[in-house]
Amino acid sequence: MVEVLSPNLPDNTQGTNNASATYSEGRPSSPVIAQPGLESEDSTFGELASDTTSLKSDVTAYEYENGRRYHAYRSGRYLLPNDEQEQARLDLQHHVLHLAFKRTLYFAPISEKTPAILDLGTGTGIWAIEVGPSPLRHQALLLMWLNIIGTDLSPIQPRWVPPNIKFEVDDLELPWTFPHHFDLIHTRIMNGSIRDWPQLFRQSFNHCKPGGWMECQELVAGLILQVSGEFLRRQMTEAGFENITLREFILLVGDWPADPELQNIGRYQLVTMLDGIHAFTIALWTRFLGYKEEEVQVFLAYLREEFMLGHIHCYWLLYVVYGQKT
Ligand SMILES: C[S@@+](CC[C@H](N)C(=O)[O-])C[C@H]1O[C@@H](n2cnc3c(N)ncnc32)[C@H](O)[C@@H]1O
Repeated sequence: MVEVLSPNLPDNTQGTNNASATYSEGRPSSPVIAQPGLESEDSTFGELASDTTSLKSDVTAYEYENGRRYHAYRSGRYLLPNDEQEQARLDLQHHVLHLAFKRTLYFAPISEKTPAILDLGTGTGIWAIEVGPSPLRHQALLLMWLNIIGTDLSPIQPRWVPPNIKFEVDDLELPWTFPHHFDLIHTRIMNGSIRDWPQLFRQSFNHCKPGGWMECQELVAGLILQVSGEFLRRQMTEAGFENITLREFILLVGDWPADPELQNIGRYQLVTMLDGIHAFTIALWTRFLGYKEEEVQVFLAYLREEFMLGHIHCYWLLYVVYGQKT
């Protein structure tokens, strides 16, 4: 069982839960949160800590390959690295999407002032942290409420976060054990990570409050990552969501757009591509296609050159789909 606190309860129950609670099959011996003050493997907390209050070595025993670092928990499940280079790319990608969405973090019309939010595959947690209320304006609420949970295979989120946010290491494709429901379940750029989309939407539907929303924000390019907006809309419908809205954006790559704002976004997106193509390629090509690392590097050098020349006007499709559990 992964213990999380109800948004309706004060966040004062750490240290009082049974540390020997059972876990669902396949989960690490201790799920993890980034929580200030509860240091990694600190024996002081051995007896007292709840199921989610320690950072155990089985999730930080990272694997290394071709100079990149990969997640340890459910090893091999996700093909991209989790090292600092990749974290910087994710944060830059967040910035690009923030600009592309005109600083909107989600589009679902949530009426709750402090909605209970679940961010699946939270990455560095940057979206979850930004979506939280401003500490200054909502100080009193922050002291009392935990309302945002982010989960990921990698514990790469900051350790010091506002008290209304909790990060946990978990595989979103395992059965969820959250003891409460959410006003918003959010996923972003999970295309290529999900094996069973219908199951993801079913679990999300079951864990939404009545009136709650699910929102997916997906980048789509190429043939393999062909999870289209229509695909997401259909999956949501089949899971039972209603009032579904699909919005389509185009994310241009490079400085070829004439419009200065799009050009600015395109330049940032070009940097995420130049940084990201090694992460996107190296595990797939060396593990499954039999390439040597040096061969991949040479190919990527040519690819970077093409990107820089800007002869090809490339773009990503960006889909936002949100639906409600009525
Ligand atoms: C491309 S990143 C996107 C991160 C974040 N959503 C964002 O938009 O910045 C995909 C993330 O999903 C996580 N992930 C992939 N498969 C997962 C799974 N089965 N369960 C939990 N997290 C997963 C990866 O570890 C990675 O951090």
